[in-house]
Amino acid sequence: MCLKINFNRIGTIILPILLAACSMHSSNQSEVNTQEPIMLSPDVHSFSNPNEIRVNHLSLDLRVDFDKKILSGTAKVFLSHLGDQDTLHLDSRQLVIHSITLPDGSNATYSLTKPIEFFGSDLAVLVPGKAAFIRIEYETEPGAEALDWMMPEQTAGGKHPFMFSQSQAILARTWLPLQDSPGVKFTYDATIHTNPELLAVMSAENGHDKTTNGVYHFKMDQPVSSYLMAIAVGDLQFQSLGRNCGVFSEPGMLPKAAWEFADMQSMIDSAEALYGPYAWGQYDVVVLPPSFPFGGMENPRLTFATPTIIAGDRSLVSLIAHELAHSWSGNLVTNETWNDFWLNEGFTVYFEQRIMEKIYGKPYAEMLTVLGMEELKLTVADLEEEGRPNDTHLFLNLDGRNPDDGLTDIAYEKGRFFLQTVEREVGRDAFDEFLKDYFTENAFKPMNTKRFLDYLKDHLLDKHAGSAERINIDAWVYGPGIPANSPKPESAEFMRVENSLNAFMASGNVDDIDTSGWTTHHWLHFLRDFKKNANLDLVVKLDDAYHLTSSGNNEILCDWFQIAISTQYKLAYPSMERFLTSVGRRKFLTPIYKLLVTRPEDKKWAEAVFEKAKPVYHAVSENTISDVLNP
Ligand code: BES
Ligand code: ZN
Repeated sequence: MCLKINFNRIGTIILPILLAACSMHSSNQSEVNTQEPIMLSPDVHSFSNPNEIRVNHLSLDLRVDFDKKILSGTAKVFLSHLGDQDTLHLDSRQLVIHSITLPDGSNATYSLTKPIEFFGSDLAVLVPGKAAFIRIEYETEPGAEALDWMMPEQTAGGKHPFMFSQSQAILARTWLPLQDSPGVKFTYDATIHTNPELLAVMSAENGHDKTTNGVYHFKMDQPVSSYLMAIAVGDLQFQSLGRNCGVFSEPGMLPKAAWEFADMQSMIDSAEALYGPYAWGQYDVVVLPPSFPFGGMENPRLTFATPTIIAGDRSLVSLIAHELAHSWSGNLVTNETWNDFWLNEGFTVYFEQRIMEKIYGKPYAEMLTVLGMEELKLTVADLEEEGRPNDTHLFLNLDGRNPDDGLTDIAYEKGRFFLQTVEREVGRDAFDEFLKDYFTENAFKPMNTKRFLDYLKDHLLDKHAGSAERINIDAWVYGPGIPANSPKPESAEFMRVENSLNAFMASGNVDDIDTSGWTTHHWLHFLRDFKKNANLDLVVKLDDAYHLTSSGNNEILCDWFQIAISTQYKLAYPSMERFLTSVGRRKFLTPIYKLLVTRPEDKKWAEAVFEKAKPVYHAVSENTISDVLNP
């Protein structure tokens, strides 16, 4: 299966057009949007034709209908005409289009192709006379994949319903008709109508308080990509955490959330000191119900986060540093297509680790880096075993595939270690200066792998004789596995952990484990090493001494349950069932279910648990786990 996109129309006519359209609609357009548009490379995951007609602004008026589990209303789509074609191609999936009209109110001629799995339909609209906008009246289907609708009992408070979106990678098209390609950036405004007792928030300028009529207005004057379109509606309350940051959550969780994220302002300050001013004004985090399928999502001005990082000891806040870092790597300088995904995530993991080092010190950051390398090695081994060696390249070829296939530790960790290799070669000061310029010069623009590598050469490597050869860029970007010159991270803290583990494995005596000063990360390293040679006898002893089965830390639980399955430690299963039926974070669910299906008896158990858990999972997680259970 392959998307049929007419590439002939891409890159043919390059007109330096100043966007007349900008003066023709709302006055809240920012000056950034009047920049000359960059011609975009073909995106195999979108039907759109942005080099001909490009969406430059979206104006939404949507009603949130909790009874029908749909959004309905209008999207006014503003356009820049860059070429001669008069057919606009938009992406649309699980949308019911009621009408499309032109600025003079007449009906536009349009057609929708038969939907293709993952990709949806090409919504082709005839836009004569270079009209400045079209108006689409539509609603989402009840099963629209981006949207998760929760009954009151699925929320922390238990009294009000909740709804949130997850647009990355190509799910924005399931709730908005748009050009769903990350290279296309547009500004937006929105009016959202919901129940008066609920608060609506978006990846935009938000009010922090409920209104009496349930109507909320948003504007985002800085251009963003479709995958960063986001909305959440629920019984939310806000607490400020500093000059320009704060947290939203359900009222009952707010004190815990605010305590957990107390370092948010210093993270912003540290990030700015590294790579330049935070461009988006306010930075808030909204804590979602546990069905949120990811750890975090870097929606501009408003990170969406899983409640599973609220551990009560601030031990999992590197996730906030990660999503914050995306405010530069990703949200400012954006992967042009999903084949360039490592430009978003690899840079962000590198940046995250620099923020963590600045605030919590080198030993802490070293622990995170070692954990990252361990995960990378496992990922490389898995992908090779699955016969997917090409998916261990940084630059991917996801033609005809779900971009989700690129969501592995390759983009994150191999990307990070590539950047660390460059840093080691040129020195930290030179690399920091380079990165700061890179983010500044390319802000609000798409970036692809080739252009980045050219930029790297011109602005950095050419000034350091021989560095390009020593780094061996081709091996990192276009080759498999982990190149031989990769940094080999070490952590003195983890050596202590390994000594304890070795002693325990030799003696079988828990007293040989010296856990003084251990944090979540020490435990994670211990468990991941222990997993390799665990046996039931040692598992029982560990649990008796440290009560891991009832740990309040979800990262620890996730690793512990994997050990419990492989050693058939049945005492942990009730707790594992509670975990699997209450947490929807895909990163936790996938390895556990994958292990469970390897034994017939466990597989049966997993299938029964999945049936119970399904209502709790977002479609993103449900689909993944369903594939694990029925390959
Ligand atoms: N942008 C990603 C999440 C994402 C990527 C969603 C691709 C859909 C498609 C986000 O920044 C992320 O990486 N989240 C991680 C946490 C992070 C600390 C590694 C997650 O959710 O686990
Ligand atoms: Zn990320």
